[in-house]
Amino acid sequence: MSRKPLIAGNWKMNLTVAEAAALAASIAEGCRNLTDREVMLAPPYTALAAVTAAVKGSVIQIAGQNVGWEKEGAYTGEISPVMLRDVGATMVILGHSERRYIFAEDDELINRRLVGALNFALTPVLCIGETLDEREEGSTFKVLERQLRRDLEDVRPGQAERLVIAYEPVWAIGTGKTATREQAQEVHYFIRGVLTEVFEKKLAQSIRILYGGSVKPENIDSLMAEPDIDGALVGGAALKSESFNRIIHFS
Ligand code: 13P
Repeated sequence: MSRKPLIAGNWKMNLTVAEAAALAASIAEGCRNLTDREVMLAPPYTALAAVTAAVKGSVIQIAGQNVGWEKEGAYTGEISPVMLRDVGATMVILGHSERRYIFAEDDELINRRLVGALNFALTPVLCIGETLDEREEGSTFKVLERQLRRDLEDVRPGQAERLVIAYEPVWAIGTGKTATREQAQEVHYFIRGVLTEVFEKKLAQSIRILYGGSVKPENIDSLMAEPDIDGALVGGAALKSESFNRIIHFS
């Protein structure tokens, strides 16, 4: 089963509209003629429209960094899936560890957002990952399985075809400490096993599992050599076109 690699940039709470548009244009220039891989950018909400315009005609897909689950209504501070689509987004990051740990989003809320995203035809990039304490006490697999099963509740197999999973060990995010390729592969293989139980084998084989956590030009090639690592979700190194373009062009 061949899965097209996906390199995704999560810009988090960074960049003005002008900065975001300039960076997006430069990344779009760097991925001209790419056909064997996909690229996604997740700007802050304020820059979504400008980034959509800046990458028009390129292979780049645009994502929100979170999303509400209703079309519209009294949800102060939320952005709806329809609004995301309105400004050009086709994908959305959900369950990022910064949402889970800084903003106390739990699996129930993440599941609601995910089902909402799917219902409005957005492709979710569901992030899961263990903390350092959880890894050290040996509960990595248990934590990941719990997150996956709860976050994916009520997702129909027909919808799951579009799903992307991102394994982001919390201890590797923004710390400069990357999981080794062996550590990441072991977890990705485990995640695919859980997906096989939640859905079925053929579908699980087609779902892309990205690795995230201090991905850099120096480590992307070796991570991508692993059979179950289907791409990367990049934070810091996605904020500069030079480093992100190098990551996109992994070999
Ligand atoms: P860093 O690449 O900065 O470690 O961030 C990873 C991340 O959180 C991507 O979503």
